[in-house]
Amino acid sequence: MLVTRQKTLRRFWYPVMPVGKVEAGPQPFTLLGEKIVVWKAADGDVVALADRCPHRSAALSLGWVDGNAIVCPYHGWSYDGSGTCVRVPQRPESNGLKGRVVPSFPCTVRYGHVWVALGEPLAPIPDWPEEDDASYRRIDQFYETWRCAGLRLMENSFDNAHIHFVHRDTFGDIDNPDPPQPAIERLPYGFVARSDVPVYNNELQKKNLRDDSAVTIRHITARWYMPFLRRLHIRYPSGLDHIIVTAATPIADDRCQVVQFCFRSDSEADAPARDIIAFDRRVTEEDRAVLESTDFDVPLDMNSGVERHMPSDQPGLLMRRMLIELLAAHGESEHTRHDAGRATQEQKSSS
Ligand code: FES
Ligand SMILES: [Fe+2]
Repeated sequence: MLVTRQKTLRRFWYPVMPVGKVEAGPQPFTLLGEKIVVWKAADGDVVALADRCPHRSAALSLGWVDGNAIVCPYHGWSYDGSGTCVRVPQRPESNGLKGRVVPSFPCTVRYGHVWVALGEPLAPIPDWPEEDDASYRRIDQFYETWRCAGLRLMENSFDNAHIHFVHRDTFGDIDNPDPPQPAIERLPYGFVARSDVPVYNNELQKKNLRDDSAVTIRHITARWYMPFLRRLHIRYPSGLDHIIVTAATPIADDRCQVVQFCFRSDSEADAPARDIIAFDRRVTEEDRAVLESTDFDVPLDMNSGVERHMPSDQPGLLMRRMLIELLAAHGESEHTRHDAGRATQEQKSSS
């Protein structure tokens, strides 16, 4: 699947950046191949527009904010949050231009991040009660570009079989390659997968968990939100909650922006945020090294013969199936980079 060619994927919310970034001025981002500018107006609204001035196509993200408008850096035309041109400095009496001349996109702030959709969203941003619960803290962990498809990262999160190979140096056990598989419950626009997975504790993790055992059972409730968002709720036997939210926001077919934060039910005195980030950093780097070697054109069609499967691949196979159904429900089929070759073949055989 080439994500930039699937229009339905434009109709989901994606976290694009920590809100702190827009405090510094207009910020560019590329979402599903669409260049956007995210900026904060004087009235506090954070908005997203196409990053292209309709005068001579300059990037608005190079401009600046003036009150409730963004000013183009080239000739100073100004646009409000709806994309209406409110000022042409060379023709001040005109009060701008008629109509919304710059496309605008749904944009909101949740969980300390700016979320954008490129069309009418099909599903809401999930409600996670820990955000407003004083017994939890939110720790912002990662904001970085990975050279892989978002779907690779999503399926990896639900793939218990990778733990003992990819994470053999942190919490996996390579001598126990066939871990318990999750029980999966399908939900609207996603699913929940539950499993109890024995994992090994290294020294840092023993400290973070305040648990000296060599092996701990992780009670995992993992939720997939279509298409590229997951929440991994790990409950340790001590009752400690470590809830990791990871988005693989699609930038282009071969790249995604990893946005990760976590909720913890312990305090900074129990486990400093920097130690928690350090452990998750190591684990994340282990995943990244392998995932960046994978093909970004993930085949949704399980019968394409491009990939082979095994029983523990069930969550990833369900993702593929649900994405095919989603596309079909919106009149789309899967686009792959083999489409162009196929079209040429068909042309040749019909001529
Ligand atoms: S290109 Fe934006 S005002 Fe001219
Ligand atoms: Fe992993």
